[in-house]
This record gives sequence, C-alpha cells and structure tokens, in this order.
Amino acid sequence: MSTHNRFHQFDALFSPQSIAIVGASENPEKIGSVLLRHLLPFQGNVFPINPQKRTMFDIPAYPSVTAIPGEVDVAVIAVPQPSVKAVVTDCAAKGVKFSVLITSGFGEIGRKAEEMELLQIAQAAGMRLIGPNCVGYGNAWQHVNASFLRTPEAGGVSLIAQSGGNMELLFAEALQGHVGFAKYIAIGNALDMHFDELLPYLADDHETTCIGVYLESVRDGQTFLPALEYASRKKPVIVLKGGVSSAGRQATISHTGNLSTTADIYRALLKQLGVLQVATLEEMIDAFNVLRLPPMRGKQVAVLTNSGGLGVIATDLLEQAGLTIPTTPEAIQNQLKQALPEIASVHNPCDLTVEAPATDFVTVLKQLAASASPDAFFFPYSCPGYRSVEVLENFADHIVQALQALQLQIPFAACNLPGTTTFFKQRFEAAGLPCFTTLSRGVNALSMLAQYSNRACFPRPPISQPGEAYHVRTVVLPILERAFHEQRVLLNAEESRMVLRQGGFNVPRWACCATLAECLDAASHLTFPLVMKISSPSIVHKSDVGGVITNIHTPQELQDAFLSMMSAVTRHVPKEAIQGVLLSEQIPSGQELLLGIKRDPVFGSFIMVGLGGIFVEVFQDVALRLAPIAHEEAATMLTELHAAPLFSGVRGQIGIDVPAVLEDLIRLSQLAAQCPEIQELDLNPVIALPPGQGCHVADVRIVVKQES
Ligand code: COA
Repeated sequence: MSTHNRFHQFDALFSPQSIAIVGASENPEKIGSVLLRHLLPFQGNVFPINPQKRTMFDIPAYPSVTAIPGEVDVAVIAVPQPSVKAVVTDCAAKGVKFSVLITSGFGEIGRKAEEMELLQIAQAAGMRLIGPNCVGYGNAWQHVNASFLRTPEAGGVSLIAQSGGNMELLFAEALQGHVGFAKYIAIGNALDMHFDELLPYLADDHETTCIGVYLESVRDGQTFLPALEYASRKKPVIVLKGGVSSAGRQATISHTGNLSTTADIYRALLKQLGVLQVATLEEMIDAFNVLRLPPMRGKQVAVLTNSGGLGVIATDLLEQAGLTIPTTPEAIQNQLKQALPEIASVHNPCDLTVEAPATDFVTVLKQLAASASPDAFFFPYSCPGYRSVEVLENFADHIVQALQALQLQIPFAACNLPGTTTFFKQRFEAAGLPCFTTLSRGVNALSMLAQYSNRACFPRPPISQPGEAYHVRTVVLPILERAFHEQRVLLNAEESRMVLRQGGFNVPRWACCATLAECLDAASHLTFPLVMKISSPSIVHKSDVGGVITNIHTPQELQDAFLSMMSAVTRHVPKEAIQGVLLSEQIPSGQELLLGIKRDPVFGSFIMVGLGGIFVEVFQDVALRLAPIAHEEAATMLTELHAAPLFSGVRGQIGIDVPAVLEDLIRLSQLAAQCPEIQELDLNPVIALPPGQGCHVADVRIVVKQES
C-alpha cells in the first residue's frame, strides 16, 4: 500500500512486493542470515539467493537473481566485495528496481572507481542503489527490516542516517523511550540515493510524523538545502551533525572567516531552515518524544512536584535553560490553598509533598491550566521508595487519565527519576506522554520544545537580477576581475571601497595618496577631521605598527601625521612594501559593528554580524546566516546577539540606527549571493550612529577567489 497520494518511485523500495537477499545464509553468525531472518515476517515474496541451497528456512532459494520467477522490487546484497559487481549486473539484467548494497570495501577505503562502475551498471538499467557500505533499510509498518539492525517498534519517526551504527544505538535507546519508527534507511557511501531525494519523500509520507537525520557530510549543498527546507516546512526535522569537533577553524585572513567554522555554518543553517539540531543520540530520542507534545508558545513553566528539593533543582535548571518559572498569581494561590493540605506549597514550583495523592496534583493541574495558562507543565516526580508498586501504578494511571480527559493544549513533560520505579514512566509512555529519566534530560527536552515551537523561519528572498533593487553584480564584477587578472586575492583599499559604494553602503569620502604633497592636495577636497591609514598589501594589523592615525583636524596635523606614520611603520616593519596612505573623512563615534561575508564551499555565501573592533575577537558574539536574507531575518540576527540591548539603548545610551544596520545586512547578503567570487569580506568596524543618522563603513577587507 502506498503511503502517498500518488505513486512514488520509492514506494517500491519502502512498500515492496518482493525482496531478494543475495548472500542469504543459514549460518546464524552471517549477516546474510540476519537479513533473511529479519525479513521472515514480511508478507510479500522473499527470495533467498545462495549458490548451494534450494531452500532456506523453508523458503525456496535460488542460485541467482536471474533465476527468480517473477518480478523483484528490491535486492539486498550481502556477498563478499569481489562478487558485488557480478551480482549488481545480474540485478540490472533482472530489472530489479532497488539494490541495497550492504557490502563494505568500496569508496570508503578509496575504491572509488569500483563504486562508480556499480553506479554505471545500475544507471544503464534504471536501477537505484542504496549504499554501498550500509546496514540496510526498513519500513516498520510493513515488517520490512532489510537490515541487520534490530527490528524497531512501529511508530511515526523516520530516519535517514549516514552511519548505520548510530541507527542501531538509536533503536536501542528508543526501546527505553517508547519511540516507534516508520521508515529508516542507512545511506552508507551514498553512491546514488542520499538525503536530497529521501528527505522530500519522507516529508510527504503519511506514516512519518517526524524525521531524524544523522549527518556527517553533505556532497552538494545546492540540492541538499532545498530538500531539507522542504522537509522542515512540512514536518519536524531533527538533525544530529556528526564530525563537528574536527571541523577546526580554517586558515583565513578575516574575522568573519575565523568566526565561522564548519560547525558554526551548520548550526546557523539548520536554525535558519527551522531544523532542530541535537548533539547526542539521547537528545535525539528526547526530541522525538517531546515534539509529540503541543507547541510551547512561550517560556513560562509551571513545575509540579512531590519534593521541595526536586522543585528547587528543576527551577534552577529550567532557568539556566532560558525558561522562566513565574510565581503563581496570588488569587490562584488562595484558591489552591483552600483545596489542598496546609503543607502544600503552590507558589511555583508547586510542591505538594511526598504523600500527596494524585487527586491533589490533578486539582493543581486543572486550576493552573484554566487560570494561569502556563506555556508548559514540568512534572518531576520522585516515586517514594516505601510505596508499593500498585499504589504507584494507580497514582500514575490517575494522572494519565486526568491528562487524557483534560486534552490539554499545554505540553506536559514528566520526569521519573532514577533509583525509583520504572512503572511510572511506563504508564506515561504507554499513554503517549513523554517521561524523561533525569531532570536534566527533561529540562533539556522542554527547552528543545520551546526552541522548536518558537523557531522563526523566514522565506529566503530571490537573488536580485539586473534592473532590480540590490542588484550589484554587473557593476562589481569588473572590479573583482581586475584582481583576478593580476592574480591577487586581496582587493586594495580603492577597489574595496568601490565595491561598497556600488553596493550602496555609506563609505566616507577617501583618497589614496603616495606622497605628502598628494595628501595635502587631497585634503583640500575632503572635510576635516580625517583618518590616515597606511596603504600596504602585506600589512594586516595596521594599528599594531603605527599605521592608523585619527583626529587629524588641520593641514599641519596632516603633515605631522604623515611623517610620524612613515617613520613608525618603517621602524616596525622595514621590509614591507608601502604604497602610501589612505586618507578618509572621519566618521563620528558610534557603536562599532562587524559585518562580514564568508563563502562556504558546500552551501554558498554566509553573512555575519557582531560587535566590531576588539569585541568580536573577545566575545565572539556573532550571528550567521546563509545569504541572501530578507528584512525579518536580518532583524532576528540582531536580536540574537548578546549585545542586542545596546542597540535599543541601555542606561541612558541612545541606541543605534537599527533600520540602517538592517538595510546594510540585506545589501551585504545580496552582494554575497550575487558575487560568489567574494571569499571573505570584513566591514570592521561599521560605525552605527544614533537613530536616524545611519551607519558608515570605517574599514573594509575583501578576499576574492575565482569560482572553479
Ligand atoms: N551469490 C549468492 N550467494 C553468495 C555469493 C553470490 N555471489 N557469494 C557468496 N554467497 C553466499 C555464501 O555462500 C554464504 O552463504 P553460506 O553461509 O550458506 O555459505 C553467504 O553468501 C555469505 O558469503 P560469505 O562469503 O560467507 O561472506 P560473509 O558473510 O563473511 O561476508 C559481507 C559478506 C557482505 C557481510 C562482507 O563482505 C561485508 O562487507 N561485511 C561488512 C558489512 C558492513 O558492515 N556493512 C555496513 C557498514 S555500516
């Protein structure tokens, strides 16, 4: 039965009529035996393929795929590596629709050419390949477990994983957490089928309520991104990105490059696409569980517990996770006090004490849900050791029944703490209510729910075309091309400022001067005060070598500045080539920001904003997004900075011209998206002036690279 409205090519994989296991074995230690045994409950045709056997587990076996009478939808191939090519050729000849290559020993150990041969054979026959080097796939609702993973419970989570081992661990962990699975697939070396096609398929699959992805690397960002975006707009997508720690900072010559490691890029991208990122397999299971709850509209949590100490720790952890525990309104407290014993505390955390019957908890729950409307209930319960299992079961049943009757649209997350009984947890989970095993896992789960429920996903605007607002490529490209022709990666001061002017940024008037006489002449066309900077292609940190002088108010000061700068710079770095100085009009002081571009080889160009000057290096408080972005996304970037309160004005400060900064971020994102040749770009600092006075670029560095 197809789970899609219309027939999809992949239905023959996930809902097959027939599956052949090539390399089937009766030796229980062999993978081919595990595969065959896992497929015994499958209702369709199972064809074991083994050269020596005519029956296996009482099923007719065949010497080869071509000997099978009738059609074969899927062939699962678990023969030794040297035989794989012949088997794939057989499958292609037979008209098999999908071949799942379990066998290892291909691209992952450098045998790329052998892998490509398999792909060519398959493509010529219109056959699709999964793997090689994968653990297989399954559809729990149809008893298809064409993998050597344990068979999971059927449910709503579908999984795509690059590593089969992680899928096995997830299934093991899921057994503890009552998570059921719909479709699951390990893509191994992903020679043919990978995330790009599977994500949209699962997003449209009626049995899939939530998609989990274990990701190590993305081959083609341009096809992966739309697939992930499509899926995440339809269903919760949870991603565990492996291999972030080794993704060290690449050698870069800009702040933006330095502050955007591969891990930062993935984090920004997943957030931008509304995907929930988790760090561990346990967190992934907890996310599957908690995302079954209604959305958590805000951050206010009502804590219900039977232990004062637990309530205190839960409150601490919830607050550390950015959630709030507001005091129960006094009127509701008074009502609750009348209904509860005197020893119960109803401030929030509500500690009803160890002996409180379930009815007391239900009273508080009903009252708070009706009148205080918290955004979530958190229920850390310490099962008293002296209580009988029967009493505890009745307690849990009572709470669960009350919750079901109430049909709360407010998420309710329970915690059954270790060292007590597991009955409690089982009762909740049997009713489809998550129950976490430690306080911190429960708190973290609620925090993930809050994060996911309040995620902001803004559509990405198109890249501006000639004649449209923000189009810059046509005018900027000739400037970039000059650098290419001269085989330079760094634009000079003049070129960089020209790029910005063309892009619509406020750049103070400037002049490049080789001599003192040129300085004095240029100054007569500029407005004092002026800033002087040394001009040298090789001096990166100009102020460290005396190469920046500000507050030049008169021609005399200009002359003094020129002479002292030349002497300081030649003293500090006598071997560097000096082209002269750059004179520019001085921007009044304001809030220093960093705006930047970083080109990622897989996903494309990202833009960054943070506090400028020295702050960016010390605090690394930056927001990153894939370009281009629209106004709402730019606004979110600013608000997510820790420094955000500075922008609207704190402690008598007047704040900054936020609309002007947003406009610059949009411009920058269009420049980034239209000019993939720009590898790195730093506007540092950009001086953001008080509201209504705009923002101005004080310094710029642009690194280019020709797209290959
Ligand atoms: N057609 C059909 N059956 C064949 C065959 C062929 N061309 N070649 C061998 N067989 C049969 C064998 O006779 C054997 O059956 P038997 O037990 O009845 O004798 C069975 O297939 C398995 O062959 P064998 O030679 O015993 O191989 P193996 O089981 O030791 O190893 C793999 C096969 C695929 C498991 C192994 O090569 C491999 O790649 N292992 C790693 C897999 C892995 O970990 N993948 C996922 C990584 S995440």
